Amino acid sequence: MSKLEIFLESLYQKYQPLNHGKLARYIPQLAKANPDWFAICVVTTDGREFTVGDYTENFTIQSISKVFTYGMALEDCGRDALLEKVGVEPTGDPFDSVIRLDENSKRPDNPMVNAGAIATTSLIKGSEPTERLNRMLEMFRRYINRDVFIDVSVFMSEKATGHRNRALANLLLNFGTIEPQIEAILDLYFQQCALVVNCQDLAMMAATLANSGIHPISKVQAVQPNYVRDILSVMYTCGMYNYAGEWAYRVGIPAKSGVSGGIMGVIPERAGIAVFSPLIDARGNSVRGLRVFEDLSQEFGLHLL
Ligand code: DON
Repeated sequence: MSKLEIFLESLYQKYQPLNHGKLARYIPQLAKANPDWFAICVVTTDGREFTVGDYTENFTIQSISKVFTYGMALEDCGRDALLEKVGVEPTGDPFDSVIRLDENSKRPDNPMVNAGAIATTSLIKGSEPTERLNRMLEMFRRYINRDVFIDVSVFMSEKATGHRNRALANLLLNFGTIEPQIEAILDLYFQQCALVVNCQDLAMMAATLANSGIHPISKVQAVQPNYVRDILSVMYTCGMYNYAGEWAYRVGIPAKSGVSGGIMGVIPERAGIAVFSPLIDARGNSVRGLRVFEDLSQEFGLHLL
């Protein structure tokens, strides 16, 4: 076994007993996750895969999707037009906060918080909802290198209970930031969040970003290389929400978390890392995931600075 495989196994043993945190319950379907699920995967930019734990367990990608739709909106609109609608400034507030949107009016701070992600998704091009969804699924397929699908129960569950996101969308409409079809925009946002992945897929997606947007196995260009730096910059400053500063200090790599328990990290030109464990802290970040990334960063000197 390689040093990395041995270390991943030891991290799994060390943190499996750690059962702090809670399942996300505000989306009812997510409360059905098994709190014991735990997986760690590393994929190098030359396509080598290292896995431990429940790495084939399916879950919905949730907020990690925001990274990829941001890339797509950059391709669809260009940097300047997108910047006019969505900023690149960390908030220090929870991911679903309404406060700064009202204070700033018009422009959500960044594409990783829900307000900014909804505005970003509204910019995906297509003549009608099915075309926009199909283009988005096609984009995810390039990163995952197999067919992809949406968990309809999770989608419906969030559509039925996502009143806060609906409030954000209404505010965005009030400011003229998004178009009036807010139900169609929210559907697409909830659908991207309900994309089904496993931990190995997430590591592969991260490795694709680490590899200038080229999938390490298929060699398909998933996103234009000139936008990868934009994506990684926003991940670095905003990807972990109101933990982003401490994350940059302790772990020091661009990353993104989701409330279903995934965290994806990118080591440019080297590898993608993913951890899946559904117990999350008050900021919406996987508890085991944070610890694993800290240890990996320390052990292999991954901090960018
Ligand atoms: O919009 C929401 O609230 C969820 N679909 C996604 C939130 C999320 O994953 C935040 N991440 N930690």
